[in-house]
Amino acid sequence: MSTVTLSHVRKVYPNGAVAVEDFDLAIRDREFLVLVGPSGCGKSTTLRMVAGLEEITSGTIAIDGRVINTLPPKDRDIAMVFQNYALYPHMTVRENMAFGLKLRHTPKAEIAKRIEEAAEVLGLQDYLTRLPKQLSGGQRQRVALGRAIVRQPKVFLFDEPLSNLDAKMRVEMREEIHRLHLRLNATILYVTHDQTEAMTLGDRIVVMESGNIRQVADPVTLYNDPDNRFSAGFIGTPPMNFLQMTVGENGTLQGAAGTLLPPKGLLPDLPIGKPIILGIRPEDLIDANESDASANTLTATVDIVEQMGAEAYVHFAIDGTRITARTAPNWSARHGEIKTLRPKLDKLCLFDPDSGNRLRA
Ligand SMILES: Nc1ncnc2c1ncn2[C@@H]1O[C@H](COP(=O)(O)OP(=O)(O)OP(=O)(O)O)[C@@H](O)[C@H]1O
Ligand SMILES: [Mg+2]
Repeated sequence: MSTVTLSHVRKVYPNGAVAVEDFDLAIRDREFLVLVGPSGCGKSTTLRMVAGLEEITSGTIAIDGRVINTLPPKDRDIAMVFQNYALYPHMTVRENMAFGLKLRHTPKAEIAKRIEEAAEVLGLQDYLTRLPKQLSGGQRQRVALGRAIVRQPKVFLFDEPLSNLDAKMRVEMREEIHRLHLRLNATILYVTHDQTEAMTLGDRIVVMESGNIRQVADPVTLYNDPDNRFSAGFIGTPPMNFLQMTVGENGTLQGAAGTLLPPKGLLPDLPIGKPIILGIRPEDLIDANESDASANTLTATVDIVEQMGAEAYVHFAIDGTRITARTAPNWSARHGEIKTLRPKLDKLCLFDPDSGNRLRA
């Protein structure tokens, strides 16, 4: 069992910077929890407080129900893997992996056994006598993982562990971490900037903004049912499109590009004339037949087309707003061409322009 419970955790640095305002979340046993959010939103600070590398200004952090606020890092039974690997340059791979265990006076035979196992899992058997400088970036990151695994900690903390790797290596290591989680059954807190990592690895994703949690949900819910404009715009590539519209008569939505009539039950009762933000994902904008260019379509001018091979991203301008459609690769669109798009009406998300909160029926 290893649960991590953060109760109203707050961090104000000595210079007065509020890095984490109120982080309140119970991480479940064996959960893979991913923290995402823009630079400076407090992800690393949150992790460092769990690790004991940063003092907590207020609130409590408990592991398996035991409050650990003042417990020194070495007594927390947590292993942290950083972006820059932080390997000891003068030690071999084997020595790097053994170091933490020696400090804890683990018997020699046990250390050797755990290193053998970790090296096998990570494919490092042939590299145990090498120095870090004799390894590739991906191999170094594996050693950093190995050093964490051999400790057999209750909780793993990862702070952007793959961000120094090239694109291909990232994909490989992402799969490896996925397998590792299945194999170790460990509780993991994982910080990343990479949406694909967040979506593919997380049991749940925490979206943070300015030291606060904006939404916590499993990847599919977060993608399909965002609670606010911030999470809606943060997850998804290309991101969700946002259009300014106003509530018209008989439940219609009116904007520069056209008039939409969302299905009954999608919208709350809103006064006529109220401005709203319409959110629609790029894959939910479909090329409409010219002949139905009347109701429930949007008219937009093609700006540029990005060909991705398996699909294309077509970027449009609507009255100064840019929107993107994800289309089939052979969809014909030329710069300057006027197109009629039919949004999937059941996929529309509406947001309040002031609070950014989702407007639900
Ligand atoms: N030692 C420090 N002293 C003062 N302020 C700090 C310190 N460390 C971080 N901060 C501030 O706290 C806020 C949160 O920083 P943190 O490193 O947690 O962000 P982050 O979400 O990990 O960002 P990134 O994605 O860039 O790594 C930032 O505004 C940062 O400038
Ligand atoms: Mg960080």
